[in-house]
Amino acid sequence: MTTSEARKAIQQLSEKINFHNDLYYQKHISEISDLEFDQLLESLIKLEEQFPQLKLPDSPTQRVGGTIAKEFSSVTHRYPMLSLGNTYSPDELKDFDGRVTKGLDGEPYEYFCELKFDGVSISITYENGLLVRGVTRGDGVKGDDVTANVKTIKSLPLRIKSKNIPKEFEVRGEIFLPKNVFKQLNKDREDIGEETYANARNTASGTVKMQDSSEVAKRKLDCFLYYLLGDIPGTKAHSESISKLEAWGFQVSPTYQKCKSITEVLEYIHWWENRRTDLPLETDGVVIKVDSLDQQERLGYTAKSPRWAIAYKYKSESLSTKLNGITYQVGRTGAITPVAELEPILLAGTTVKRASLHNANEIARLDLRIGDSVFVEKGGEIIPKVTSVDLTKRNNQSKSIQYITRCPECGTALVRVEGEANHYCPNDKGCPTQIKGRIEHFIQRKAMNIDSLGEKTIAQLYDLRLVKSPADLYDLKKEDLLKLEGFKDLSIKNLLKGIDSSKTTSFESVLFAIGIRYVGKTVAEKLARYFKSIDNLAKATNEDLLGVPEVGEIIAQSVVRFFSKSENRKEIERLRKAGLKFFSDEKEPEKVSSILESKSFVISGTFQKYERDQLKDIIIANGGRVLSGVSGKLDYLLAGENMGPSKGEKAEKLGVKVISESDFDKMLNS
Ligand code: IVH
Repeated sequence: MTTSEARKAIQQLSEKINFHNDLYYQKHISEISDLEFDQLLESLIKLEEQFPQLKLPDSPTQRVGGTIAKEFSSVTHRYPMLSLGNTYSPDELKDFDGRVTKGLDGEPYEYFCELKFDGVSISITYENGLLVRGVTRGDGVKGDDVTANVKTIKSLPLRIKSKNIPKEFEVRGEIFLPKNVFKQLNKDREDIGEETYANARNTASGTVKMQDSSEVAKRKLDCFLYYLLGDIPGTKAHSESISKLEAWGFQVSPTYQKCKSITEVLEYIHWWENRRTDLPLETDGVVIKVDSLDQQERLGYTAKSPRWAIAYKYKSESLSTKLNGITYQVGRTGAITPVAELEPILLAGTTVKRASLHNANEIARLDLRIGDSVFVEKGGEIIPKVTSVDLTKRNNQSKSIQYITRCPECGTALVRVEGEANHYCPNDKGCPTQIKGRIEHFIQRKAMNIDSLGEKTIAQLYDLRLVKSPADLYDLKKEDLLKLEGFKDLSIKNLLKGIDSSKTTSFESVLFAIGIRYVGKTVAEKLARYFKSIDNLAKATNEDLLGVPEVGEIIAQSVVRFFSKSENRKEIERLRKAGLKFFSDEKEPEKVSSILESKSFVISGTFQKYERDQLKDIIIANGGRVLSGVSGKLDYLLAGENMGPSKGEKAEKLGVKVISESDFDKMLNS
């Protein structure tokens, strides 16, 4: 493909993707399937990889991320991001209204109400219609530049299509994780034996500050805008700004309403009190603003917040109930989770009987005792949480809880690694719960997807000593399965068929299935893509692993530890013999030139324009080779930011040429 052909193709694909994206996010219409949409995006990503210089500033591929930031740069807000005064009481709200009336010398005014979204506030700048910057609130004066992460939010326009927009303006809003996305995220974490996140708000906040924007893209953040700033001709009221935002393609929450008096405001608050729990995101109150911009200006500001607005916060429902006991769960990785067993109570619409206490520190922090009356709240409306003890009801004879010292499943003495909150059962080879947990992990949909097997069957297979590890599944015979309760010809045939067809599962899923600690599905995909086979991965050193995007010390050490154990290597050999895929069939990138023919590269550090994976593909596509370690034979060390010092020193000693990202670009375009 010539450069001009590529330019045209990139333009056409971008237009098509933008068209469908807008249709979906603004009109909720899908004219093409998700698969077709992903295919269009995939083609565009490939083209942009081959012709990086042709990438458009508002390319829809930015929705899938790709940049890695080691540190966010700090940006001073053009207009400081103020906080709001808040109250839980209708009387205080009436006081606020009194101050407004007084401040405006009795002239008439209206309020604009909308729900208060429980997320992370963000300020986004547009110049000439293009999204140029997204900055977190920070301390209100200065925040972090998280533009690449903000661009992954699909409902946010990267370019405004409307004519007659100001040359420059700022919009502010709240980034959040929709409830269903948060739920799914926690389910996925449970699958890899990781502790689940406690609430959507903190998780959204952590996500906005993730270093790898392609990870952010997977999290599916969303955003409501509620504030337009800048010199916007013809806008006299906040309600008009909101209409403008809507007309320019921004997502505003449909919950807003104008109110003529504080009585109407209180009705609005009351109306939403219970209904808000049906909304797709967490809300924690109502924001009330004087609508007229002129009146806002006259009311002015205190040192911290505007005098023309206030937040009314709903009290989160909290009830007390009896702590009947504490039980302890053992996870697939041996991690112990204490659980509060409660006298059942009805809370925000569901019956609550149990609540996770996370770890021993949490029990100590709450100073829990069996028989205590405890307050329970629903954190983020979904997950029940013990918040405190009602000390007035405590029995003086009660004693502090002694945390268990032995595994409740196998009796092994528990260990606690310095610096970690969790206790672990170290008996990974003998603890029945851990063994069954590993097999359950192995067969799950995202892994080997053997849906003819379930928790109950696994327990039976284990009890009958037929299966102690995933590899044993592939040795099962019909005669063995006849011993299972309730299994007949047809169910046996189905089960064996399910196990047999799992052999075609892709390498990345197999890599996730074998259950290396801290290797979730995404990391498994990255490792599979980078190393291409289990043999390469098994040989990888800590340093090699750190070369993979998103892989840090903890994952690298865990992978090295996994392959250093002979029982793991034996298990993999058995699985390989059974016919599982331990290599990737992903094709090498298509050749585009031979500019880098016979040149070898080591890539190290992080880069402005490219992800490391991308650089690797570009080098191969142009005829070069990518190596993992610096040696005398190496031609170039491609050095990014934060490159480890050892590589640079070694290169210098051996006389290997060290080049930067821009040197590399020049090389490609020479
Ligand atoms: S308006 C001058 N509207 O609440 C401040 N804020 O406590 C104008 N928030 O920092 C803010 N939902 O992050 C406004 N519908 C809404 C909101 C909202 C959530 C957040 C926002 C702000 C904080 C103030």
